[in-house]
Amino acid sequence: MLKTFRLQLRFLVPLVVILTGTAYLAVPLMDRLTLRWFARDLDMRGNLVANALADSLTDAETRGRKLQAIFDRAVQDERLVAIGWCSPSGQVLRRTARFPKDLECSHAKEVAADRVATMNIEGGSVHVSFHPIVGEAGAAGDLVLMHDLSFIERRSQDTRKYLIILIATLGGAIALVTVIVAQLSWRGWVSGAHALLRGEGLLKPMLPPSPELAPLAADLRERLRDLEDEYRRMPRSDEGWSAERLQSLLRTQLRGDEVIVVSNREPYIHEKQQDGSLVVRRPASGLVTAVEPVMRACSGTWIAHGSGSGDRAAVDRHDHVPLPPGEDEYQLRRLWLTEEQEQGYYYGFANEGLWPLCHVAHVRPVFREQDWEHYRNVNQLFADAVVAEARSEDPVVLVQDYHFALLPAMVRRKLPRATILTFWHIPWPNPESFGICPWRREILEGMLGSTILGFHTRYHCKNFIETVDRYLEARIEHEHSTITYGGEDTLVESYPISIEWPSPEEAREWPSPGQCRTELFERLNIPAGHRVAVGVDRFDYTKGILERLNAVERLLEKHPEWRDRFTFVQVAAPSRGALEEYRAFRERIERATARINERFGRPDAPVVRLLAQHHDHDQVMRLYRAADVCMVTSLHDGMNLVCKEFVAARDDERGVLVLSRFAGAAREMPEALVVNPYHVEETADALHQALTMPPAEQRERMASLRSTVHEYNVYRWAGRMLADAARLRLRQRVSDRVQRHSVA
Ligand code: F6P
Repeated sequence: MLKTFRLQLRFLVPLVVILTGTAYLAVPLMDRLTLRWFARDLDMRGNLVANALADSLTDAETRGRKLQAIFDRAVQDERLVAIGWCSPSGQVLRRTARFPKDLECSHAKEVAADRVATMNIEGGSVHVSFHPIVGEAGAAGDLVLMHDLSFIERRSQDTRKYLIILIATLGGAIALVTVIVAQLSWRGWVSGAHALLRGEGLLKPMLPPSPELAPLAADLRERLRDLEDEYRRMPRSDEGWSAERLQSLLRTQLRGDEVIVVSNREPYIHEKQQDGSLVVRRPASGLVTAVEPVMRACSGTWIAHGSGSGDRAAVDRHDHVPLPPGEDEYQLRRLWLTEEQEQGYYYGFANEGLWPLCHVAHVRPVFREQDWEHYRNVNQLFADAVVAEARSEDPVVLVQDYHFALLPAMVRRKLPRATILTFWHIPWPNPESFGICPWRREILEGMLGSTILGFHTRYHCKNFIETVDRYLEARIEHEHSTITYGGEDTLVESYPISIEWPSPEEAREWPSPGQCRTELFERLNIPAGHRVAVGVDRFDYTKGILERLNAVERLLEKHPEWRDRFTFVQVAAPSRGALEEYRAFRERIERATARINERFGRPDAPVVRLLAQHHDHDQVMRLYRAADVCMVTSLHDGMNLVCKEFVAARDDERGVLVLSRFAGAAREMPEALVVNPYHVEETADALHQALTMPPAEQRERMASLRSTVHEYNVYRWAGRMLADAARLRLRQRVSDRVQRHSVA
């Protein structure tokens, strides 16, 4: 209201100024004009009087006796004030009482010649007219008539008054009409502009904008087209994803919104040394490999379990630590778990229950009531930490993995406007397999608290949707891959995870493959001339390490030419060693290694080198560059990043990848030698094929694999997910606006 009044003042003030100015100029002009009109009238009247008196003035007899009486009678007229009669020589012969005694005829003639012909005499101002009278005998004299002007002044005062009243009334009326019209137009304009911003008449040609807003609509349309062009010029979603592009997506489409990551495994672990000093270590985790570059790009907060012996010593009083060490690009919030909690939630429910349940790797899942309790409590603990860390009511929360199936719904309850993206890093089984979980309903409900639920492959999405269909009463829209449950929508989509493609600067630092090979041969004392295959995994029964060793054994049985010419290096990072299943698995691997080495190796040159310790990124890269073959034989894997890292390391375009068809990666990497790891014969043959593959074929396959992994990198994984999140957030904002509008 105040705003519109101010706007109206902008119009009213100039209006008042103009009207006052007009009155100021118009009043004297009007005065002069009316005076001139009246002077003309009085001239005509004077002529009339002069004509009426002409006979008397030319008649000698009348002139002699009666002239004075005629003049005196004539000045009884209300308007005619005085009369003078001048002789042809200019002398005043007769005059009435008010005719000025000292006025000469010549002066009276001069005054009468003026446009307004006005002079002051006793009793007020008069209009003077001069009329030559001609008789039969020629010029008889001149008649000077003086008419009263006071009535003209009275009239002109009246006119002035009416003029001012007229201007004031007109001004008032104009101001009133203007205020009303301005008010109505302003309201119309504002609601028209709102409609435009909602896209009416802009995006829907059926509803053209009002004519006043048409130019604005045209400008807006043009601007939108510019933005659309700009958007189109951005590299398409399936090409050219980089940290910069992800950052620009976060800045533009997500408008710099807050990003919070939740995972069980932390990206850096501080370990306390015996001398009390701290060392930082990167865990062997595909999740960390994928999420860390994304986190660096978006500088958010990562919440994870502080599992290292030196973790508490490294945090501030809010349990925060800036990461990566020395670069401080994002912050880690560590959460502390008791031993029982870790045992129940992580080892128990997550890794003895959900892990074998989802991998279907023929290890029986174990479900304990107590583990479930811990799992629920720890999920709540992490959900509370998300709420505590959130600086806004609608952060983007990236929930990682099967450790947090219940957390999405828990966060949704506290932050209903949050965008929750849950990514399930492991496979999702079919409904029958999943059905054996006693808490299947709670798990599905928890996950459906997510805005977006991501899996590596379409196949896992399909399994999940079918599981929900089987166990919950939810509305499923297959066309859009959405599930509506409890009034909330969840988009179920596949986002194949990947690695960060090494930058040219990083690749330049790498030692050459030849150098890596020499170092490896020296370190492990591998006989010169041996061909080398490698496997890099956590010590996990899903990775198919045993099947791989069986294939190596079968290769040496089938192709004796490889005996004493072949070494297999298996890096196996210790993992979940507190679990009996994992300990037993490790023992099985050690037994198989010993058996093969006994059968085909020499004491100084074993065939299988089992390196059961953690290797850092740099050591693993050197191993990949030194190898002839990389074997990834998972029995079931969501994606598997080892195969992608191997390909990224081989900028010499050499080396062969043997890949399990049960790893999600097999769908993207058909140029690998794809095998069924359960089929020992097939895997042994693939290994033989790899070892004998001509360099040209290696190059051809490797070049194609490299271009796929380069393009389908981890920024694309995160970028596609975040772009979908941005789209859903925009949709949410628009629907909020529409709702607000319809309520108003
Ligand atoms: O594959 C699932 C996963 O969470 C990976 O993302 C990760 O590499 C692995 O398990 C690590 O497991 P943990 O954190 O138990 O060592």
